[in-house]
Amino acid sequence: MGTPLLFLLAFSFSFFSALSFSPFSPVDNHLINCGSALDAAVDGRRFVSDFHSSNPGTPLQSSALTTALCNGSPRSSSPQIYHTARVFRKPSRYAVEIKEPGTHMVRLHFDPFVSSNSDLREARFHVLVDNYVALSNFTVSDTLVKEYLVWVSQNKLVITIVPTQKGKLGFVNAIEVLSAPKDLIPDTATLVRDGETQKFEGLIKQGLETVHRVNVGGPKVTPFNDSVWRTWIPDDGFFKSSDLSSKVHFSGRINYQVGGASREVCPDFVYNSARVIASKSSSIPEANMNWVFRVTGGHRYLVRLHFCDIASLSLGSLYFNVYINEQLASKDVDLSSIAYELASPYYADFVVDSDNLGAVSVVIGRSNLSMAYAVDGILNGVEIMKMNNSMASFDGKMCRGMALKNWPRGNSGGLITLVVVLCLLLLSVSMLMRRKIVRVKDSFSWTKLPTEVSEVNLKVGIQSSLGGKF
Ligand SMILES: *[C@@H]1O[C@H](CO)[C@@H](O)[C@H](O)[C@H]1NC(C)=O
Ligand SMILES: *[C@@H]1O[C@H](CO)[C@@H](O)[C@H](O)[C@H]1NC(C)=O
Ligand SMILES: *[C@@H]1O[C@H](CO)[C@@H](O)[C@H](O)[C@H]1NC(C)=O
Ligand SMILES: *[C@@H]1O[C@H](CO)[C@@H](O)[C@H](O)[C@H]1NC(C)=O
Repeated sequence: MGTPLLFLLAFSFSFFSALSFSPFSPVDNHLINCGSALDAAVDGRRFVSDFHSSNPGTPLQSSALTTALCNGSPRSSSPQIYHTARVFRKPSRYAVEIKEPGTHMVRLHFDPFVSSNSDLREARFHVLVDNYVALSNFTVSDTLVKEYLVWVSQNKLVITIVPTQKGKLGFVNAIEVLSAPKDLIPDTATLVRDGETQKFEGLIKQGLETVHRVNVGGPKVTPFNDSVWRTWIPDDGFFKSSDLSSKVHFSGRINYQVGGASREVCPDFVYNSARVIASKSSSIPEANMNWVFRVTGGHRYLVRLHFCDIASLSLGSLYFNVYINEQLASKDVDLSSIAYELASPYYADFVVDSDNLGAVSVVIGRSNLSMAYAVDGILNGVEIMKMNNSMASFDGKMCRGMALKNWPRGNSGGLITLVVVLCLLLLSVSMLMRRKIVRVKDSFSWTKLPTEVSEVNLKVGIQSSLGGKF
């Protein structure tokens, strides 16, 4: 008799939880599988071929002098998008349509495999994302995903790949361009500088590059388990161990609330683990928790700290201070005054200059309000994002113009494509005409090429329109 009721309960519960988990669906969502004639499915997402023949709407703009390359022996565990790459010998562009202005996430996937005729570890190139220099003089020796957050106000976003010079290669395996969740990047943060804090404004229009994204006290979170397909790595490599702290894991429900962090800002898998310092006696431990993140100097950084009190037994018992680069960034933090509920997530954004040592340090320490027999410090997640410098670069002191200077205008792939297409058109028209003539006269031979078509251009054109050799 109890069984139908139980079944109904179970059913309505799963129905309810399915409703409360509506997945994020970005307005702009371009996933490109570079150098492959086939689409690829990765974690249930479809990366579309950049071959013109399989995808007439491909965002690849200059197909001349690009080659599709296939990894002959990919690792069995590697996603399908890493089995091919598109290789560039001249500056080339991918341009995607942007339907809705706003912050966009751009991910570039690099897997430098070695094939019979190319070693992608030898590639050396620059990458521009719209007007930003994302990578300069870039080489890559192992699988790498680069992620940028850029404000787009135009109706397209352009990714340009520029070999450093003639004879050098550029490549990319896959590209993602998606609308970021609306609440991902707010406009204000707290600037921590010269031992003081002040309001920082204009964050939303800043270019950002993700440098570290860390799940404190928990396991790696893969794109499959993240609301916007990010990767969060464990914090063990960054945590300067403290005997008095411990990892905690929470298996209950994370109470996302309006006004706090949303599931798109940071998923349950990050909020349900943390490191804590807790007082187990009538005294409060003097210990701090300390993380050190290596960064490159000469940039400002956005430091986003994620908090969710999954460890306290009651509201109003957890107080702590936050120090960034040894400066007090936030005092007497009381999560319960922000969320009014345990296990309710919250994040805080700080802007800092990197010190000369090339590191950003984060310390969670006791507050003057910390209590005995209570949790006295917690941290669930950290994101460190680099801001572009005044040259609009994320990578050195080279601006966009300098990246393109070895490649004078008019020498770029686009024009050559046009020339090749025109030549092919001319050729086919003249062949048709000659065929007619042949039919009529029945004696004229038409094997000779028209003199204005150069054979070199023709070969290039045919090779590139076939996507080169595998
Ligand atoms: C690029 O890197 C190489 C090797 O590290 C170096 O020799 C060269 O000067 C760099 N070029 C630029 C423009 O920075
Ligand atoms: C996603 O998370 C679940 C639960 O923790 C885990 O069992 C699974 O392996 C994860 N999947 C991936 C692809 O990371
Ligand atoms: C904590 O209290 C001590 C003594 O009253 C004071 O000197 C110190 O500045 C306080 N610390 C903070 C972070 O407010
Ligand atoms: C980043 O680049 C933009 C131009 O796109 C510029 O307005 C801004 O000042 C740069 N940021 C910094 C910190 O220099």
